Amino acid sequence: MTSQTILGIRSDHVEPSFLETVGTHIARVNDELDELVASSSRLVEDAGRHTLLAGGKRLRPALVAIVAESTGKPFDGKRAARIGAAMELVHMATLMHDDVIDHASTRRGRPTAGSVFGNTAAILTGDVLLAKAMSVLAHDGDLRIIRMVSDMVVQMAEGEVRELEVRGNVHLSEDEHTEILRMKTAEFVRACCQAGALLAGLGEADAGEIGAYGFHIGMAFQIVDDLLDYEGDSEAIGKLRATDFREGCATYPLILVRPHLTEAELALVERKFGNGVSDDELRLIVQWMHERGALAATRALAESHVNEAKVRIASLQEAAGRSLLETLAATIVARTS
Ligand code: IPE
Ligand code: IPE
Ligand code: MG
Ligand code: MG
Repeated sequence: MTSQTILGIRSDHVEPSFLETVGTHIARVNDELDELVASSSRLVEDAGRHTLLAGGKRLRPALVAIVAESTGKPFDGKRAARIGAAMELVHMATLMHDDVIDHASTRRGRPTAGSVFGNTAAILTGDVLLAKAMSVLAHDGDLRIIRMVSDMVVQMAEGEVRELEVRGNVHLSEDEHTEILRMKTAEFVRACCQAGALLAGLGEADAGEIGAYGFHIGMAFQIVDDLLDYEGDSEAIGKLRATDFREGCATYPLILVRPHLTEAELALVERKFGNGVSDDELRLIVQWMHERGALAATRALAESHVNEAKVRIASLQEAAGRSLLETLAATIVARTS
């Protein structure tokens, strides 16, 4: 039997009925999203729907539901779907803006909204989606979630700006890069997990620990993203390989290979970083990353975050919920796209 998979979690790894439940949650989230992208502006609706229908893992809403389910406590499924949909709207808005910033032509294996509808439409649609997301949360009315998500959105936007400021800096420090990943991605994943815990009725302290779990899987997720940009298959990840190098974004594989380059090799990297590197040169640079252990070290770093994530839930969840969250954490580093 082909097992049902959600976020790459196979039903032979966790209780199948559990995956079914999460699948039902995601279907509800998709229904909510379908309604939420409707707009009085035809352009906004078309550009929003374009991004929505291009796919995506629905990782963030799935996390809200998975965490809520993993607590074993009863919760309001409709609320979980609305809050999950709000999280996905924030994500979609971010992606639409990010693709303009990054001059990306494909997203989720399809042309970006900007390349189909123009960058101005993509930016404005992103604004509308973000505003709708905050409106959904305000109507839900849980101030703890509203505050947490608004603070996270500020950090994420500042993370994008921080990244822009360091763009082209081939000597970016590991600490600075780690901070950017925290702001750009890990805080978002933390917020999704924490929202799931809160809506299932956990107290602030326990929800905070589950948030920390989310933070670490978010870091692992983004570090794997850094890695896949260099080692992934370009068709599977829906974008050209080594776009980070081409665009002058220093990420872990580059940061970790730097100390292992000769002067001449480093000079080539400095000259070509974000500056018309050829495919042959890129192949060579990726080969150095591979041979000198930078790709393996990047993966090890992601794995250390997964281990830390597991520690944060060790004392919290009842066994079935914990094993599910552990499987989810492990799946994040195993992903190939
Ligand atoms: C892409 O996020 C942007 C990053 C934070 C790396 P996802 O990989 O979750 O994107 P979708 O939603 O599946 O398209
Ligand atoms: C996506 O970031 C947007 C945020 C995480 C805020 P990236 O530019 O690193 O990711 P991709 O490669 O476009 O998905
Ligand atoms: Mg990008
Ligand atoms: Mg970007």
